[in-house]
Amino acid sequence: MNALKIALTKGRLEQKTVALFERCGMDVSDVRAPGRRLILPLDGGRFQVVLAKAPDVITYVEHGAVDIGVVGKDTILEKGQSFFELMDLGFGRCRFALAVREGEDFFATHRHRRVATKYPAVAAAFFAQRGLDVELIKIEGSVELSPLLGLADGIVDIVETGETLRANGLVPVVDIAPISARVIVNIASMKTRKDEIQQLLQALRNANQEAAL
Ligand code: PRP
Repeated sequence: MNALKIALTKGRLEQKTVALFERCGMDVSDVRAPGRRLILPLDGGRFQVVLAKAPDVITYVEHGAVDIGVVGKDTILEKGQSFFELMDLGFGRCRFALAVREGEDFFATHRHRRVATKYPAVAAAFFAQRGLDVELIKIEGSVELSPLLGLADGIVDIVETGETLRANGLVPVVDIAPISARVIVNIASMKTRKDEIQQLLQALRNANQEAAL
């Protein structure tokens, strides 16, 4: 049978996931030195690893182009989910929050409010739940700029240490959802390759627990 294919989110999550694979006793030498290769053998070819941007990890898993993905809950919440979310890896911890300029009362005002975000689906769901009519403006990065430039009254964004908000005179006013790295699995793969997938998840779980001891 073909090796199971695993898509990792490039960057910080990739590095932490590879470290976890290593703690499982896998040979991670190819994944640590990919060069220009896009598909990499893991553990001597027992698995194949693909490195991708977070939304693409979800697309590949949904379409069955890969069996398994490691991606942040932020992208899962934004993009929706036609896959199984089977494990919280416990790293990549941060949160979605609504933040405003210091001293501003976002909820007191009855005027038209605008909120900038990279995550319009998450923001729309949050404001709908609160019954608030808010205009959302999609921004691609450094969303903190928008209230500083007068474009928006607040932002919905990822907060990790809170340093970026503090450095720009912004404060979080509502925590919207916790975020961490999750293991997701294609729906068909979960039926056809259940044993192999469960074996891998158990190995990840054990290595994660040992690290926590
Ligand atoms: C994220 C987020 C914040 C920052 C929060 O940005 O959008 O800007 O990290 O981290 P902190 O609370 O520890 O300061 P990212 O680095 O992903 O880049 P982006 O600006 O393109 O979103």
